[in-house]
Amino acid sequence: MNIPPINLKAQFKGVKKDILKGIREILDEQKLILGQYCLKLEEQVASMTGAAQTISCANGTDALILSLMALGIGNGDEVVTTPYTFFSTASSVALTGARPVFVDVRESDMNIDPGLVEKAITPKTKAILVVHLFGKICDMKIISAIAEKHKIHVIEDMAQALGAKRGGIGAGTLGDIAATSFYPTKNLGGIGEGGMVLTRRADLGEKVRKLRVHGMGEKPYIHEMIGFNSRLDEIKALALCVKFTRLVSWNKTRLETAGYYNMHLRDLPITLPIIDDETSHIFHHYVIRTDRRDALQLHLKEKGIITGIYYPLPLHLQPCFSYLGNEEGAFPVAESAAKTSLAIPVFPELKKREKDYIIKSIRSFFKA
Ligand SMILES: Cc1ncc(COP(=O)(O)O)c(C=O)c1O
Repeated sequence: MNIPPINLKAQFKGVKKDILKGIREILDEQKLILGQYCLKLEEQVASMTGAAQTISCANGTDALILSLMALGIGNGDEVVTTPYTFFSTASSVALTGARPVFVDVRESDMNIDPGLVEKAITPKTKAILVVHLFGKICDMKIISAIAEKHKIHVIEDMAQALGAKRGGIGAGTLGDIAATSFYPTKNLGGIGEGGMVLTRRADLGEKVRKLRVHGMGEKPYIHEMIGFNSRLDEIKALALCVKFTRLVSWNKTRLETAGYYNMHLRDLPITLPIIDDETSHIFHHYVIRTDRRDALQLHLKEKGIITGIYYPLPLHLQPCFSYLGNEEGAFPVAESAAKTSLAIPVFPELKKREKDYIIKSIRSFFKA
């Protein structure tokens, strides 16, 4: 059997007809950028998350930079965030001129440890940037209370968590502003790059809308601020609109697969992801942890199962962030996670016999 980490070709089969039809229409109309499909996508995401303001843009990294800029974060400021995430969570902070200040993640869900956040706050801190890693919503109660106490902002990097909810409240509405990505491998993945900013605040929404198009407001060629070009193409937005109608069902299937794996792997000497309610985890990745990670990955590869490592080197140890002065050992949980985490295929198109084969192959490794 050959099982890839994600099967975009299989996913495309189910939406191909509608996407190709829409592309033809767009090409006939020649309204190519920020048209009706961008608006529709913004409405779809708003209705799913409850965010009043949704602003499509070129990619998730831009969405983070736009969010930070809308909050006025830049030179001399500090942003508290996690070292165990995709690169652009922290690079976006650095690109605004601000300083990423890392705090460790917690064992239970690999998300930022709320108990460590307050110690990292200084008079320069402007925001806490949380990541709902692998699709699991962070513990926001303590984080929001700390932000309120210190009068700083909360930014959500929800690139892996579109559709996740806690207590009925959607990722993207748990802080001041949020950024998501439509990179092709995401739960809602496009036919190219794409991203979106979400916020409940009208003032921030307006600012992001201007920053997305060179800082222009209503009047063409009058630049109220120095923005950049981060618009979404109509063809990409159309594909996302079509796929959006499947997102709830895809997320549900991912959760069911995670539950199935947990049930059949629970007696093995590995750490499994926690499923504590039905909505707060949408399993962008299903990540297990074991000290024998590299050997297990090789064993699964020999069985035709391709797994992923998210992430092999925490951000504080990346060469480009050495200027921040964090040594090895600074964030032990993140460092251990980088050495022990393994993402097992969890994409919605996985067949039952493939899931069973994956389970059997993991079990055979630990029996041997
Ligand atoms: C947690 C996280 N943040 C930010 C990004 C950046 O998104 P993009 O690749 O669309 O720039 C990604 C995805 O790649 C991500 O997984």
